[in-house]
Amino acid sequence: MNIVVAGYGFVGKAHALWLEYEHDVTIYDPAMGYGDIHTQFDKVDGVIICVSTPEGETGECDMSNVYNVIEKCDPGTPILIKSTISLEGWRLIKRAYPDEKIAFSPEYLRAAHAIDDFKSNNTMQIGGDSEFWVKTFDYSAVTIVSGFDVEELIMIKYLRNSFLASKVAFFNQVYDMCENTGIDYETVRNGVAADTRIGDSHTFVTQDRGYGGHCFPKDVSAIIASGHKSGTDLSILSEVQSYNERLKLAK
Ligand SMILES: NC(=O)c1ccc[n+]([C@@H]2O[C@H](COP(=O)([O-])OP(=O)(O)OC[C@H]3O[C@@H](n4cnc5c(N)ncnc54)[C@H](O)[C@@H]3O)[C@@H](O)[C@H]2O)c1
Repeated sequence: MNIVVAGYGFVGKAHALWLEYEHDVTIYDPAMGYGDIHTQFDKVDGVIICVSTPEGETGECDMSNVYNVIEKCDPGTPILIKSTISLEGWRLIKRAYPDEKIAFSPEYLRAAHAIDDFKSNNTMQIGGDSEFWVKTFDYSAVTIVSGFDVEELIMIKYLRNSFLASKVAFFNQVYDMCENTGIDYETVRNGVAADTRIGDSHTFVTQDRGYGGHCFPKDVSAIIASGHKSGTDLSILSEVQSYNERLKLAK
């Protein structure tokens, strides 16, 4: 199969590396020197979208890069979106391309360990029109679980990241409380994390304080923006976001 990987960052590189074992892979990422803005994907078997989806002006997920890649595809080309996308953006895509074969699969790798995470992450959840992609990845050790509802997958992706960001914020406050009361944070952290319902991931307080990185800030903003649009009270997350910003400013 001739597969285009659009967007050659952490996620795109991991996918290209994986697909190259079995398929012909063409990279498309003009900013990285692969193709140019006039490139069209003619006569390719499938397109995987791994482009950046940054925070928009009002906190929403800016999906213009995703739309840009979809516009380059011939009608009928199977498309797999691995970029993180919003509910509103997905609904726009479905309205604009009701008959196209578009699937979505959330990505959970961590930027700093992208390739290792990719190799060890042995389940890929996929929703939408996924038949082509289940066959395309059939050679690999990764288990593809299809049949998901795309909107549910979008929510799952955002809520996992938002929950973990909230956990980081919470433990930063616990850290301050320990500092202010002369109690050893490490002992408290270990004791709390020993409860397997809590666990020790995201309980470490770094010198940078709070959460940062590639995905948490923009994903928290995006789900808050989606909450506003749907009239949902996400005030807990809004406070997590404000607190995190205050922490960063105080540094
Ligand atoms: N990095 C992670 O750990 C991670 C984890 C899960 C999900 N994601 C999501 O996956 C997506 C990609 O993340 P990433 O970390 O690989 O981003 P990245 O910034 O490392 O790479 C994105 C690449 O897309 C390219 N790009 C932007 N617009 C393009 C366009 N119109 N056409 C072609 N290429 C274009 C950029 O030049 C860049 O090289 C994002 O939606 C992100 O939220 C990332």
